Amino acid sequence: MNVCIIGTGYVGLTTGTCLAFLGHKVTCVDSDEKKIALLQAGQTPIYEPFLAELMAEANGNLRFTTDYAEAVPDARVIFIAVGTPPSPNGSPDLRYLSAAARGIGEHFDGDFAVVVNKSTVPIGSGNWVGSLVRESYEQQHGCKAGQRFAVASNPEFLREGTALSDSLFADRVVVGSDDARALEALYTLYRPILDQTFNAPTFLPRPEGIGAVPLISTDLASAELIKYAANAFLALKISFINEIGHLAEKVGADIVQVAKGIGLDARIGTRFLQAGLGWGGSCFGKDTAALVATASEYGLSMPIVAAAREINFRQRERVIEKLLAELKILKGRTIGILGLAFKPNTDDLRDAPAVEIARKLIQRGCKVKVHDPVAMDRFRSEHGDLGVICCDSVDQVCVDSDALILATEWPQYRDLHWEQLASKMRSAIVLDARNALDRDRLIRSGFRFLTIAGLEGSSGLPVAENVLPVEAAGLLV
Ligand code: UGA
Repeated sequence: MNVCIIGTGYVGLTTGTCLAFLGHKVTCVDSDEKKIALLQAGQTPIYEPFLAELMAEANGNLRFTTDYAEAVPDARVIFIAVGTPPSPNGSPDLRYLSAAARGIGEHFDGDFAVVVNKSTVPIGSGNWVGSLVRESYEQQHGCKAGQRFAVASNPEFLREGTALSDSLFADRVVVGSDDARALEALYTLYRPILDQTFNAPTFLPRPEGIGAVPLISTDLASAELIKYAANAFLALKISFINEIGHLAEKVGADIVQVAKGIGLDARIGTRFLQAGLGWGGSCFGKDTAALVATASEYGLSMPIVAAAREINFRQRERVIEKLLAELKILKGRTIGILGLAFKPNTDDLRDAPAVEIARKLIQRGCKVKVHDPVAMDRFRSEHGDLGVICCDSVDQVCVDSDALILATEWPQYRDLHWEQLASKMRSAIVLDARNALDRDRLIRSGFRFLTIAGLEGSSGLPVAENVLPVEAAGLLV
């Protein structure tokens, strides 16, 4: 099918690349000339594993342009995947969405197209987008739009860092529309994914046991609400385990084992129960805020979602409290931060807990040194004014530092020469804010080991030997 994608952020670029790989003719439009030039040269503006490789495989089917006139006129399916960043009052800024809808109406020249909202948009936006498209079509062409456009919502569930496999080997595809023609077109478009009939790329092998992917077809409003409810539920899971983590710390329980112990109940599930610094990124914070705001428009409060947000914000504050309790005075201290991206396998720094923690420490008079395996360039260009010291290696971060915070659990941080690093620090203190490090090993290497949720331990003290690891007891499935 002839597909147009408006917006080349994570969602647009992943969707466009996957659809082109599956054999559709895809043109991606973005107003950012620098980004488009980069994409035309086969490079990616974001760090996403295997994206450049899949773009290369899809080559003949994938084009990039800044000009709506090269993409929209004869497209059969037009995806809107522009950003909907939060505005100062928390509600999503719909400027780009409205510009895209108008651009579609202005440039479309065919008999029929499905306009698909893939951006996360407030519930009810589908109808609004439809009216903008029709209105601008009529203004431009001087005739009625009639049945020329059908509007659909097709929410995205990809995670940064695993965006391509989340899309190609999806858990489900959700399509919402009040127009049967839209549902039919999207069914045809996604058929290779639904039936899993495509040959998986060698670098992204099909996960074992994956069968047909379920298609959920709904009305417009239900699809829009599914997106918000899914993100809110995942955010709740994280905040729930972080809340339990506070109690675990008080009673001396190990939150990692507690998470395993509850997660193996199939009704609960083990995923998204990793306690620590909580969520960051461009989605959970924005979407939970929008859900609460939408509910309040209908006179409803959403106490569970609101509490999840509050717990999440508190986790970042707890890092400062923990350091304060340990070091007593923060002013004049040097604190190292390992990991800046909001999670591993991305260079995305939007609402990254590490960045906020660095800012809080600087406000308290600390010198802050930072390191990230892939996000340093982005950090320098987006937060160059923060006044932290950017380091090329973990070694550099450690030299003369009073404490080290693990803020992003990049796998390469798990296996460092800890003894050597401890010897370089002014005081060998590590705050594992992601519960990702080997506590016993760190303690053996001479570190005072802290967490913000769960089991701690101090250098020199015996490691809790009476705790039989679940693995050793042969209980771990
Ligand atoms: C999230 C959702 O997982 C996707 O399904 C959704 O499509 C996307 O938002 C979106 O709306 O666009 P993403 O933000 O890329 O994806 O990343 P996640 O893997 O969900 O992680 C979000 C944050 O939660 C990260 O900061 C991560 O460190 C944190 N997290 C995740 C935890 O603290 N604990 C966990 O157990 C899992």
